[in-house]
Amino acid sequence: MTIIKRIVPVIFLAANIFIAKAQTIVAVESQKNALVLQVTPKKQLNALYFGTKLANQSEYAAIAKQYRYISHTGEANMAYSTAGSIDILEPALAVTHADGNRSLALKYVDHTTTKISDNITLVSINLRDSVYNFDVTLNYQTYIKENVTEQWTVIKHHEKKDVVLNKYASANLYLQSDGYWLNHYHGEWAQEMKPEEEKLSHGIKTLDSKLGTRADLFQPPVFMVSLNKPATEDEGEVLYGNLEWSGNYKIDFEVDPNNNLRLIAGINNHAADYTLKPNTEFVTPKFVYILSDKGKGDASRSLQSWARKYKIADGEGPRLTLLNNWESTFFDFNEPKLAELLKTTKTLGVDLFLLDDGWFGNKYPRNGDKSGLGDWEVTKNKLPNGIAYLTKTAAEAGVKFGIWIEPEMVNPKSELYEKHPDWVVKQPQRPEYYMRNQLVLDLTNPKVQDFVYGIVDDLFTKNPTLAYIKWDCNSVIFNANSATIAHQGNFYTDYVFGLYKVLERIRAKYPKVPLMLCSGGGGRVDYGALKYFTEFWDSDNTDPLERVFIQWEYSYFYPALTSSNHVTDWGKQPIKFRTDVAMMGKLGFDIVVAKLKPEELTYAQGAVSLYKEYSEAIWHGDQYRLQDPWKNDVASVMYVDPNQSKAIMFNYLVSNRYRSGTIRPITLKGLLDDKMYTIKEVNMMPGQRSSIPGGTYSGKFLMTVGINPAVGAGDRASVIVSIEEK
Ligand code: GLA
Repeated sequence: MTIIKRIVPVIFLAANIFIAKAQTIVAVESQKNALVLQVTPKKQLNALYFGTKLANQSEYAAIAKQYRYISHTGEANMAYSTAGSIDILEPALAVTHADGNRSLALKYVDHTTTKISDNITLVSINLRDSVYNFDVTLNYQTYIKENVTEQWTVIKHHEKKDVVLNKYASANLYLQSDGYWLNHYHGEWAQEMKPEEEKLSHGIKTLDSKLGTRADLFQPPVFMVSLNKPATEDEGEVLYGNLEWSGNYKIDFEVDPNNNLRLIAGINNHAADYTLKPNTEFVTPKFVYILSDKGKGDASRSLQSWARKYKIADGEGPRLTLLNNWESTFFDFNEPKLAELLKTTKTLGVDLFLLDDGWFGNKYPRNGDKSGLGDWEVTKNKLPNGIAYLTKTAAEAGVKFGIWIEPEMVNPKSELYEKHPDWVVKQPQRPEYYMRNQLVLDLTNPKVQDFVYGIVDDLFTKNPTLAYIKWDCNSVIFNANSATIAHQGNFYTDYVFGLYKVLERIRAKYPKVPLMLCSGGGGRVDYGALKYFTEFWDSDNTDPLERVFIQWEYSYFYPALTSSNHVTDWGKQPIKFRTDVAMMGKLGFDIVVAKLKPEELTYAQGAVSLYKEYSEAIWHGDQYRLQDPWKNDVASVMYVDPNQSKAIMFNYLVSNRYRSGTIRPITLKGLLDDKMYTIKEVNMMPGQRSSIPGGTYSGKFLMTVGINPAVGAGDRASVIVSIEEK
């Protein structure tokens, strides 16, 4: 695999409106793709091409000749469009200079290519305004084997006074095809990740969030764009993207007059004009994307494998199975009750007990969601012997102990609010407005950053065996305003930078400890946050039928080991169906184990040990979505371990219509043709008999003919099949 590490000057003839004598080509290549940029003789950096790479790099220079752009200015395809000069479509960057002027025209200066490792190359292109002392560096970091690119921009100026960034996107892509199908998501609490696919028409379609904290409650910052025709699981060209940012984001898809797609992704500039001091770098978040010509499944597997290797905290490590007490006790618990739950954690066979909300606050105890948030001392009359007693009891029971916090938030009824009203995000002249009776702390304030860091640090310092943290975030930001910040336009952006500073400090001191990113449902997951978190909470909706769809959609973007799924009493399905569904991701429970019938407990214990047996495939293997729940009676998904010797197939009935189930076999994927595999139904209820034609088959047979998991109503509503090399 070669990567262009040089500037290639090439002579070429007139290409439509361009009369060029010499040009510089910058090709950002991965194993399969090339993103090709061109410097025009006027030093304009244009985007030429993004697609399958060519065998002969010198041919990149010939690409420009093949396109005929209609442009009134000759600048139809800027690589990073700027406002106020000759680009008259949606800009990636818009600024107000120190003297009030609002124009920017960036010219190519030079570029460097740095080999970061055998698999990672960073191309940095320096641009400078021709009039103002204003510099921009475009960065393209490519993960060669995974065909993934992270793109971001560094903005810096040396003007005499502050400059205001009115828009400051991370990346500007330029795609050229016969049509663009955008698949994006929307939702609400307990209804996360509802997909919608539409053909983009001319004009701008924007995905965005203005919610501040749990930014993607309504619209997560992930999407797919199919080129030429809608991609399927195994066919078609498709681009996946995600802004690595846990706050307000904006992704514009503009089909321009040339029928090309200008994609601009970055921090949302809504109410966020950012004041930038001279000689200070503004580093945008990264926009990560992958382009595949082999359909959604291939793109998804590459993104997942990149994420495990390079992004997610401990992405290649193991995960802990757990028992959570939220739905079994809510706020109503005490030491004896928890001691009992700790024992049942061991009985169930999971690794950890997770103590949820309700353990803190004394003047205003957290006995409900109206008080106590912010006062992170143990409630003495509820837990007189503190967290230390609980970690000790957990150790005696032979399980680990984890705890819930919601450190960015405060109830007005709390000592924290009384002591530090200026730490709270609110408009001083307007009434407070609450979501779940709480307000957000102002993380732009370094004192608040210290406080939030201190909550975590204090817990670990006092309880060194603490093994897990569930970090919740239940409110959006209303009345955005900081009591201390100099420029309110910086607030939304600096909130997220403040959050990341805290998380950096936590990870510097506690690099491995598992942290779950929770937000009253899947309102907060992106690759900016997953750098610090080992997993996330998909949704408060744990009804397993709903969950099949929610988990299915998240699985396109995030690997199974990050998707925390708990077996709860939501839904009326039997324990087997609920557990089988949770096993598709990171398994946990939130039930009263003592209330399980003996056969249910036996089943659940068996499920935990089976899960551990197949966790290598589920956590670190390749995922294949075999049958889509939106289009079939039965959803089917499988994971194949990295050696292609052990796989597990999950099948779920998602329709209750007459005779719903599997009639034909489902073809497996990801196995080796010539290997022989033994097929067996697993994870059955005690006494349940398998109805599937087990036995030994070649990989070729399984991937050509397939197997029928015999899914149907009653006790065949969920079926798990193990596939093991003979
Ligand atoms: C949120 C979470 C729940 C639980 C509660 C506690 O709603 O999503 O899992 O932790 O907070 O208040």
